[in-house]
Amino acid sequence: RRLDNALTIDDLRKAARRTTPLSVFDYVDGAAESEVTADRNVQAFRDLTFHPDALHPVADPELEVEVFGRRWALPLGFGATGYTRMMHHHGEAAVARVAQAVGIPYGLSTVGNTTVEDVRAAAPEVDLWFQLYPTSQEINAELIRRAQNAGCSTIVLTCDTAVSGKRFRDDRNGLTIPPTLRPATIVDMARHPSWWVNKLTTEQVSFASLKFLESKYKFNEIADRVFDSNLSLDSLDWIREQWKGQLLVKGILSAEGAAEAVEHGADGVVLSNHGGRQLDRTPAPITLVPQVRKALGDQVPILVDSGIRNGQDIAAARALGADAALVGRAYLYGIMAGGQDGVARAYEILSTEYRRAMQLLGVRRSIDLAARHVSLPDT
Ligand code: FNR
Repeated sequence: RRLDNALTIDDLRKAARRTTPLSVFDYVDGAAESEVTADRNVQAFRDLTFHPDALHPVADPELEVEVFGRRWALPLGFGATGYTRMMHHHGEAAVARVAQAVGIPYGLSTVGNTTVEDVRAAAPEVDLWFQLYPTSQEINAELIRRAQNAGCSTIVLTCDTAVSGKRFRDDRNGLTIPPTLRPATIVDMARHPSWWVNKLTTEQVSFASLKFLESKYKFNEIADRVFDSNLSLDSLDWIREQWKGQLLVKGILSAEGAAEAVEHGADGVVLSNHGGRQLDRTPAPITLVPQVRKALGDQVPILVDSGIRNGQDIAAARALGADAALVGRAYLYGIMAGGQDGVARAYEILSTEYRRAMQLLGVRRSIDLAARHVSLPDT
């Protein structure tokens, strides 16, 4: 009922704010430093202009696309986000199940709270990706092997986390993973009882994929260990040698960076500023799509994320030259608002909006979305 009342992703965000402890909501909603980039990401989509084809009726648009030789129901994937069982006890398995049910890919994070094996068991057919935060070669090799055994099609190497971005909301809220009991936590429990009941009655896992690290190091040390300040093109070369599947590099913010990643073996790139959670004051990735497409040519898949809150945004990404878009917060607001049903609702909202955008643009198939249908400011 509550989910039916959510008509937009922003409605899900408001519902999430009510159902979830503030420290958890802020971990998702917040971003780095002054949060300039996080705002800019969303604003960049609002600043785009659509140019519909007149008198091109579209009764039943064909939404699906083919990326990496696979059929996606929509040019959209659920991107990797850490600690999803903190947002809601349904966690990563629920996101994977929805992705499987609708026919889009899901990327599991290295710092997910569910192992790649458990996600695969929950969603045997989903196009599963594994997002890699490389640590030591020994651990990387192990994670790559497990991703392969779990039938992941793709490894996503995240390259914008030399160190963790500074997110002041988390400091101010005293966020710890897992949550620690403080006086403020007890007040919060009274305000969000069902979140806490679920938390306390389901199994707690902090670093599912890196469990073997957990016994060796304290929590805060692990966080530092997960991010590799030495990640380089050599690391990419090494991963390329180890991994025979699809390899994506995520966190690219320039045509040069994209070309370099492809020269070093990436099969595609994800233009991303990590949803504004890493370096603040970076460009909105959507504005870079045309120049990166020009640099890489027509054959290399380009994905884009950061700031997608509406199906129109996905249509714009596609029209500007991306193969597909990824979302993080959009489905996380959904899971916080209503667990697996909330993730399904987020997808339903985005796909309905995308379909309507196609009809109003007069575009019958996703592959027909073209540069003439959207313009960036000053172009
Ligand atoms: C993320 N993101 C992320 N990326 C990644 O490569 N590994 C990770 O573990 C995480 N964790 C994570 C947690 C949370 C709470 C958020 C919101 C994001 C970044 C994510 O994959 C994606 O780049 C952004 O979420 C895209 O921006 P939007 O859609 O959230 O605006």
